[in-house]
Amino acid sequence: MFLMTKIFRVNPVNPEMQIIREAARIIKSGGTVAFPTETIYGIGADAFNADACGSIFRIKNRMPDNPLIVHISKIEQLDDVATGITEEFVKTAKILWPGPVTFILNKTPKVPYAVTAGLDTVAVRMPAHPIALRLIEESGVPIAAPSANTSERPSPTNAEHVLMDLDGKVDAIIDGGSCAFGLESTIINMTVKPYVLLRPGAFTVEELEKYLGKIEIPKYINYGTTGLEVALAPGMKYRHYSPDKPLVVVENGNLLKELEGMPTRKRIAVLCSNEVANTMAGGINVIRLGNESDLYGIAKNLFDAFRKLDRTDADIAFIQAFSKRGIGLAIMNRMLRASGTKSVSTLEELKAHL
Ligand code: TXA
Ligand code: MG
Repeated sequence: MFLMTKIFRVNPVNPEMQIIREAARIIKSGGTVAFPTETIYGIGADAFNADACGSIFRIKNRMPDNPLIVHISKIEQLDDVATGITEEFVKTAKILWPGPVTFILNKTPKVPYAVTAGLDTVAVRMPAHPIALRLIEESGVPIAAPSANTSERPSPTNAEHVLMDLDGKVDAIIDGGSCAFGLESTIINMTVKPYVLLRPGAFTVEELEKYLGKIEIPKYINYGTTGLEVALAPGMKYRHYSPDKPLVVVENGNLLKELEGMPTRKRIAVLCSNEVANTMAGGINVIRLGNESDLYGIAKNLFDAFRKLDRTDADIAFIQAFSKRGIGLAIMNRMLRASGTKSVSTLEELKAHL
């Protein structure tokens, strides 16, 4: 199937409402619309329309056992999608939402299994982005929306990325510029105690713990492992966020300099901080991720850097590791998953890839 994808350019701070209403009409009539959030772009459909949500899986080439996140625009909508909501939860949600955190809750019968991939739980989030909030409001329904990329590709952080993957497949794209965080939301399973982190993301665990108490961090998150038999967040078991080029994580950024002048037939690209890039003499394709002191900046550039890498002629790429503190946990999780968990910490290990 090929259709004309409509592109709406919209002011991200003060969205033009006649355009939002046109996009909302597409959602209401069972279509799909890609839209910006504060994390990444999502591809949305009416969360109560099983057929419309089914089409998201086809458009993205998404595995059928990988459920979608349901987006709401006001706290009152919570009862439509989730059951067993406590007053305590509502109080906390009102503090943390709108924001880049997704909660796993028990679903209502109204939410089709097409959204939850057969699970009795549902992922819910209220995004902190005027366009997303207005679109949900005008649609009059919660919007189910996974990332607006083809499965396995890096998540889209601007409308051009969406167009690269979904042109001719999605009914419309709302172009609201680039996303503030550039990394997906943090996912917390609220149906168990202690609460469990299912995906590190834009909202740091350290900050969330101030409101939610102790959050358990499963081992696989630190290693970015894929291929788990039963992944807690089903999406975590798939290769994801990946450039097409082979990627190796380099634990010690100083080793990257050693790549210059190494005897190899392979064309090399390096993804690194400005600090490391400034020490390189040239000759190697360098993609800058930002300043080491600004991990939020690095998070924001990461997926775009993966897409840039794919447009180079490199045979292999090496990417600098960063601290796993704060937003660094999510950065490292994405990096390790994009590399298929290939990481090196010595010169010998690095040379083995050349
Ligand atoms: O920031 C974000 O969360 C973005 C924007 C668009 O909101 N969305 C996003 O969606 O990243 P997606 O589909 O790429 O990732 C959703 C993740 C998947 O790993 C999926 O397995 C998990 O959420 N998930 C959804 N429902 C779940 C459930 N009931 N239980 C456990 N994991 C769930
Ligand atoms: Mg995704």
